[in-house]
Amino acid sequence: MKIQKNISLKPYTSFGIDAKAAFFAGFTSLTELEELVDYTKSPLLILGGGSNLLFTQDFQGLIARNEINGIQLIKEDANFYYINAAAGENWHRFVLYCLDNNYFGLENLSLIPGNVGASPLQNIGAYGVEIKDVFHSLEAYHLTDKTVHQFEAKDCEFGYRESVFKNKFRNQFVILNVTFRLRKNSDLHIAYGAIEQELAKMHIKDITARSISEAIIRIRTSKLPDPKVIGNAGSFFKNPVISTQLFEKIQMQYPEIPGYPLQNGQIKTAAGWLIEQCGWKGYRKGDAGCYEKQALVLVNYGKAKGAEINELAGSIIESVAKKFNVQLEREVNII
Ligand code: FAD
Ligand code: EPU
Repeated sequence: MKIQKNISLKPYTSFGIDAKAAFFAGFTSLTELEELVDYTKSPLLILGGGSNLLFTQDFQGLIARNEINGIQLIKEDANFYYINAAAGENWHRFVLYCLDNNYFGLENLSLIPGNVGASPLQNIGAYGVEIKDVFHSLEAYHLTDKTVHQFEAKDCEFGYRESVFKNKFRNQFVILNVTFRLRKNSDLHIAYGAIEQELAKMHIKDITARSISEAIIRIRTSKLPDPKVIGNAGSFFKNPVISTQLFEKIQMQYPEIPGYPLQNGQIKTAAGWLIEQCGWKGYRKGDAGCYEKQALVLVNYGKAKGAEINELAGSIIESVAKKFNVQLEREVNII
């Protein structure tokens, strides 16, 4: 295992920010991870695909990239397959592997960048499905007690873009592998957003998990910037959950405000819409910007510094609070 020193992180994150890491190493097994943990006295950051991170400064410690690979069917029962994937597996390739093998349930999560290991961290979600809907368990290494712990769904405290690993256990565990409970017979979710319209455009009559995956890939490609071309980390903010009173107050002036009522009586509204109303969509200062096709996505056109992107995020938060009295919260992990 090679430990590199003072390297640029530009190729390792989807934002393409040229911050430096004092030390950098990839690990391909638990043993290698243990060696790294013993070696380092400095702060440690686990890296997956780098698609939900913004470095606002150089990192003075060790960046350890999880490169543990492997996928296996561990058991099956009447209705489900239990598929275990190592943390270093690329998420979208894993989704396609499951589709190829008729393991159903991940199709709506097609084309989300990043690796399997980070997927439970923020309970990744898209098009009406979240990881928690297909999650069975995971194994994670505790950095201080140096043992492997097993987590079931109830232990993970999954919420909208939340889990224990993003909150009370932040930076304490390294997720090693995740087991998913995937259906033998497909249970298709097409109600969300533009899926049905896209399937109609594709002239699909016989809807399958594969065709849903293809429709979602087309929708995502049409509105989200490809990180290989324009640096970004997907939605920069979470969609805010607000009270019905506040929602109705805004709605009186802006009848078109999107709103999704939640079971707890509150309403989730669209951060992208709020940001667009504040005039930020397409805004650019230097190489930091707010994407022209999706205002929720902040972008690096080339040489932006992480601090500049984060400063833009701050200005957006301020203007949305001032205009709508709604507090936006960053979804991206700021380092
Ligand atoms: P990284 O960015 O490498 O890491 C993210 C965080 O997890 C960091 O804090 C890191 O320290 C920690 N971490 C990583 N691996 C581990 C591990 N094995 N153990 C412990 N901690 C770990 N997200 C969605 O939910 N839905 C979407 O639709 C979506 N669309 C996106 C579209 C684009 C174009 C982009 C760029 C991003 C999008 N995202 C979306 C965000 C991102 O893809 C997810 O958050 C993804 O799960 C991040 O995975 P990663 O491997 O890149 O994590
Ligand atoms: N909207 C605008 N202007 C914009 C952007 C959006 O008015 O510039 C409006 C849209 O018209 C629509 C609503 O906002 O009425 C929602 O937009 P969209 O369907 O594009 O989804 P989103 O809420 O912006 C969320 C997730 C995405 C996920 C999609 C699909 C969050 C923070 N983001 O985006 O996840 O892929 O739904 O399910 O929940 C991510 O987390 O990184 C991410 C990309």
